[in-house]
Amino acid sequence: MQIYQFLNLARTVNDNENVNKIILVNLLNKDLVWLYSNLNTIKYDQKFLKKYLALVKQYADGLPLGYIFGYVFFNGNKILVDKNVLIPRNETEILVDRALFYAEKLFASKILNVLDLCTGSGCIAISMALKKANWNFIASDISTKTLDTARLNQNLHQLVNVKLVTSDLFVNLAESKFDLIVCNPPYIEKSSDTYQISKLAHEPELALFADDGGLEFYQRIFASVLNYTKPDFLLALEIGFDQKQALEKMLAEKFSSYFYWFEKDYQNHWRFLFISSKGL
Ligand SMILES: C[S@@+](CC[C@H](N)C(=O)[O-])C[C@H]1O[C@@H](n2cnc3c(N)ncnc32)[C@H](O)[C@@H]1O
Repeated sequence: MQIYQFLNLARTVNDNENVNKIILVNLLNKDLVWLYSNLNTIKYDQKFLKKYLALVKQYADGLPLGYIFGYVFFNGNKILVDKNVLIPRNETEILVDRALFYAEKLFASKILNVLDLCTGSGCIAISMALKKANWNFIASDISTKTLDTARLNQNLHQLVNVKLVTSDLFVNLAESKFDLIVCNPPYIEKSSDTYQISKLAHEPELALFADDGGLEFYQRIFASVLNYTKPDFLLALEIGFDQKQALEKMLAEKFSSYFYWFEKDYQNHWRFLFISSKGL
């Protein structure tokens, strides 16, 4: 059977033809130029067709492309993903870029100790460590399975400046003090009707949901973070698009003598919170 016939059959399973093509070139380890040059030439057998259509069906049933391919690109770097980790989002790339920007402004050329709390795939620590080879990173997560995937990413990028630690937030980090703490914690309220929870069905619950209206992790982090920071520090957090107001109340209680500010994502939502001991 020829490639154009594969694509015709795939359309009966999933009507997004671009995705069908991407799944096919990925499976063949080719690119779109190759695909268009070979629509009528090269033939594949029924066994391959079955494998291909099964992947197209998985996509049609809602499995994100990252899980189908087993990787995504985050900040230009390949990050391996599987069912034990959240698929890194574009918004989190903004968190990384802004955190690096502010860290450079606040700390100039100092060599920093950085914590990526709730690291998941390790995407935050890894993309930062690739840019800052002389900084020291700890990437921690409560789940050992999640850290297994982070370790694959650490090995893929051959990073010697990232240490992986299993920890319920700060519990196993007792001896450490950080200049920069970056965290994208779980922040979705389980009963939320503002998120399309069904779209998240394939991702680990542990990575998504938080109690207390989604604020549980911010409460816990705010309660103890100052025990793990150096006198001069930057804390960079991703937040839910509807959490700014509630967080402002919490900040007024705990961080009134510090500098803090929020930033927006590409959709004009308030999605990032920065807290620092120093003004910019
Ligand atoms: C929203 S995901 C973020 C993953 C990754 N940093 C990213 O931005 O794509 C949250 C992560 O927090 C981890 N997590 C959940 N509860 C935790 C806890 N109590 N302590 C540490 N990590 C936790 C989950 O396993 C998950 O990997």
